[in-house]
Amino acid sequence: MILILVGPPGAGKGTQASWLQKNYGLKHISTGNLLRAEIASQSEIGRTIQSIVERGEFPSDEIVVNLLKPVLSVPEKGFVLDGFPRTLNQIKRLEALLKDMEMALTRVIEISVPYEDLARRLTGRFSCKECGEIYNDYSHLPKIKDVCDGCGGTQFIRRQDDSLQSVSKRLKVYEEQTRPILDYYKNGGLLFTIDGRKTPSELNQEISHHLSQQAPSPDSCLKSHSFSL
Ligand code: AP5
Ligand code: MG
Repeated sequence: MILILVGPPGAGKGTQASWLQKNYGLKHISTGNLLRAEIASQSEIGRTIQSIVERGEFPSDEIVVNLLKPVLSVPEKGFVLDGFPRTLNQIKRLEALLKDMEMALTRVIEISVPYEDLARRLTGRFSCKECGEIYNDYSHLPKIKDVCDGCGGTQFIRRQDDSLQSVSKRLKVYEEQTRPILDYYKNGGLLFTIDGRKTPSELNQEISHHLSQQAPSPDSCLKSHSFSL
């Protein structure tokens, strides 16, 4: 199974991808996490990426695809792409990569959340430094104060691009560059939209129910590749 999660910043892509990893055994591949790891490594390319990401803009497709390629293996159960593709050109790049792997996309899940709900989600977000488990000051604190539910870690981090200034830029970039990819997948019959205002566990159930329905035929997956961009 190959899934793509699309949605504005703070929609809950990482939260649902982590659940899909735990419950379906899918490998969680987040281009945002790959970029942050490159920044943390202090490499030359990491230093180039840092200011772009912190401003809420996109590094070049070349940079993103070069980070993605080495991790895009085909594990037994498949993978879930979180935050890729997010431009029409990245769709082309993904299709070429999947063709080389002789794989077809299973579903694209859009998590739809009104923009007015997102600032609170992003400014309240923090995550475990050790395992990456995602929390929120307002809606999802660890069960034991300052101890990660997932791994027992006690160090937490906040993202540089979760400042109000970056968030408004990220939303604008989403609207201009990423929203158009939804029409492409809708026309290909692969898009499933969920209401991200529901609780994470309600969304888990909705995704699970949807995935248990008959998968689209290989024909419909291939047909989606023939839509023009
Ligand atoms: P990326 O890391 O992908 O960030 P994003 O797309 O902005 O999305 P977020 O990670 O902020 O939000 P999310 O949807 O994962 O929400 P989460 O589950 O954490 O990318 C960062 C940057 O890297 C980009 O801006 C860009 O610069 C660059 N980049 C990445 N990919 C790229 C690409 N392909 N091309 C070019 N550049 C790229 O949840 C958010 C909060 O809400 C949490 O606190 C959580 O607890 C809470 N929450 C989750 N679900 C719910 C719910 N249902 N109800 C209430 N609260 C919830
Ligand atoms: Mg995320």
